[in-house]
Amino acid sequence: MRPHDMRNALIEVQDLQIKFDISAPLLTRLLQKKKKTYVHAVRGIDFEINPGETFSLVGESGCGKSTVARLLSGLYEPSGGRIHFKGHDMAKVDKRTMKELRKSFQMIFQDPFASLNPRWKVERIIGEPLELFGLLPDKQERKQRVGELLRQVGLSENDMTKFPHEFSGGQRQRISIARALASEPEFLICDEPTSALDVSVQAQVLNIMKELQEKLGLTYLFISHDMSVVSHFSDRVGIMYLGQLVEVGNVDEIFEQPKHPYTKMLMDAIPSMDEINKERTPVTGEVPNPLNPPSGCAFHPRCPNATAQCSQEAPVLVKNTSGHAVSCFNV
Ligand SMILES: Nc1ncnc2c1ncn2[C@@H]1O[C@H](COP(=O)(O)OP(=O)(O)O)[C@@H](O)[C@H]1O
Ligand SMILES: [Mg+2]
Repeated sequence: MRPHDMRNALIEVQDLQIKFDISAPLLTRLLQKKKKTYVHAVRGIDFEINPGETFSLVGESGCGKSTVARLLSGLYEPSGGRIHFKGHDMAKVDKRTMKELRKSFQMIFQDPFASLNPRWKVERIIGEPLELFGLLPDKQERKQRVGELLRQVGLSENDMTKFPHEFSGGQRQRISIARALASEPEFLICDEPTSALDVSVQAQVLNIMKELQEKLGLTYLFISHDMSVVSHFSDRVGIMYLGQLVEVGNVDEIFEQPKHPYTKMLMDAIPSMDEINKERTPVTGEVPNPLNPPSGCAFHPRCPNATAQCSQEAPVLVKNTSGHAVSCFNV
């Protein structure tokens, strides 16, 4: 386990927030005397990711994981808070530094079919970032590098003459990984990269990602709703609920001594290989509507231990000396 050291963090996120304006058009609002409506999708989260580490975000669908990924990759602008990448405040860097930094982080999405241009051959798909960043202007050199990248993800250089539809789901995700690696990034944001794949293929792709991490010294933000995948893949884990982090800690701490009642609820629902007959407790209740989050602790309507305080006051994430942080009044 790597030491937890914020001073050397590659990514540092402080009080990150985003509100989406989902108001009706102006005229409708005026006629119906309605106010503007916002979804507060990410409601002030803090974490840091150290070089070479895999930090995972987990939580049920709709809790804001993809939104965090998009904020970090610059696809959305935060409504509040800060993102530091390699010590640079991303809201303040000049254009030139931003262009330099852009090479260092890349994103891998859940659905490789949607993210790979179906009309392009693999050579162009993987070669495009090289061209875009002006890394290898020479076509022959670029081709050679594309071949290298394909071999790195377990495909063959002959695959560069094919189109995305000629590959299986797992192979397509390997192509996405090769493309993401083209600009020699340090940081990969992986949003449910294997969730659309069969279990056996999932394992292959995750293994390749692990191998590449070790070989190239990559840092991962890994996003998943699957606790068992997260337990195998992560160094540290953050549990998200309704746009906030409720627990953050080393993977062993989180899986062996979960503290937050929501983490425990997710944990109880994991099928276990050792205890085939183990009674699985399904996750109960529903995620509240983010348009109208519950008062106090957002989890209190589903929490077995909720007290009066929980419905009135919002707990904050409190860190113990080992870096394990929980936001719950009853822990
Ligand atoms: N572009 C957007 N406009 C409005 N609401 C959005 C947008 N993107 C996400 N949301 C809302 O933000 C919340 C979090 O979504 P998301 O980040 O996709 O969750 P997850 O990836 O954890 O399933 C959801 O309630 C979703 O409806
Ligand atoms: Mg998502």
